Amino acid sequence: MSFPCYILKAENKMGILSGKHIVLGITGGIAAYKSVTLLRLLVKAGAEVQVVITPSGKEFITPVTLAALSGKPVVSEFFSANTGEWHSHVDLGLWADLMVIAPATASTIGKMANGIADNMLVTTYLSAKEHVMIAPAMDLDMMSHPSTVRNLKTLKEDGVEIIESASGELASHLVGKGRMEEPERIFDRVVAFFNKKKDLTGKKVVITAGPTYEKIDPVRFIGNYSTGKMGFAIAEECAERGADVVLVAGPVNITVSHPNIQRIDVGNAREMLAAVETVAAKSDIAVFSAAVADYRPQSYSDSKIKREGIDDMELRLIKNPDIAAAIGKIKKAGQILVGFALETDNERENALRKMRNKNLDFVVLNSLNDKGACFGTDTNKITILDAGGGERNFELKDKRLVAKDIIDAVVSVLE
Ligand code: C5P
Repeated sequence: MSFPCYILKAENKMGILSGKHIVLGITGGIAAYKSVTLLRLLVKAGAEVQVVITPSGKEFITPVTLAALSGKPVVSEFFSANTGEWHSHVDLGLWADLMVIAPATASTIGKMANGIADNMLVTTYLSAKEHVMIAPAMDLDMMSHPSTVRNLKTLKEDGVEIIESASGELASHLVGKGRMEEPERIFDRVVAFFNKKKDLTGKKVVITAGPTYEKIDPVRFIGNYSTGKMGFAIAEECAERGADVVLVAGPVNITVSHPNIQRIDVGNAREMLAAVETVAAKSDIAVFSAAVADYRPQSYSDSKIKREGIDDMELRLIKNPDIAAAIGKIKKAGQILVGFALETDNERENALRKMRNKNLDFVVLNSLNDKGACFGTDTNKITILDAGGGERNFELKDKRLVAKDIIDAVVSVLE
């Protein structure tokens, strides 16, 4: 049993959460037994934890255990049956620096996504002023049901941090996605949340993301496979670190919700340049992560081009503006410009040439030869080259963590 190891870890982090107020929400899933370990880790690390449990949560874990470990009576109902005392979800919402719901069942996720405040836990969620993270736990069919997928998407858009469930054997003995993340990992996410530096407070950042679509006719375009995930992750990282972000996004299928992010949607390279130009001069940092189409059709056909009677067709292309280079030309003193280089050969050489030609301070090199480091994946493997000749290599990791590495590099040279 690995429990003693968790405790050891929390002891190492003794005091790291001291003074932090955490509402730990527990719902009615078999994974509720793991919440006891999470609670113990949080308390050992110095946090003040108020447990709020749903009525069905109490079928899985007893409030006596939770009250003993947290040192506070567990809240479940709006009123205490014995004393008639009213439990104020508003006060709890204001008190909490963080709310963690683990496990979060399909039912609670559905209620949260739709504002169905029929218990103390969801009511407290609706009153929570600070960050909320949830660790979903359910059977694999419930997890993949369109309503769960939709509700999780809604919560994500509402700014809730989803701690993805792991795959493995479930309570039903079926094997698949739905196991609640281990308490130690959830604890790490809590610590990471409180450790998040606000080192970009007062800074303005402009970020380009996604592909551009260069129209041929009303139904066709030249584009690429970029999904925008990397640029969106960088935008979220900057926003969480306190920056005011303008995210100029090409046609992508993802959403952002952070209040510090202003999103401008564009279609083609010229629109992207125009949007960036409106804010570039006022920006302290610009990150060019978009995969901008290098060329566009010279002419656009207002009506759909028909194939009847045409065996060979030539499409004449002209060069698009280079957004990074255009901003590099008018770079202000102290401004930091970051570009990307996605290469297949002569990687370092090409990346360094781009950094010089576009007047960038950093170039983030990723190679199409690295598995897991291309368009559409959730991971990336990068090397950060800087104008001073420095080079930092990183292993393959989640794009959110890659975003952190990139922004750490930028912050290290900020005045
Ligand atoms: O020259 P290349 O396209 O490989 O350079 C990549 C870098 O330049 C990326 O940071 C990309 O966002 C930026 N770029 C741009 N406008 C273009 C082409 C590339 O901003 N038209």
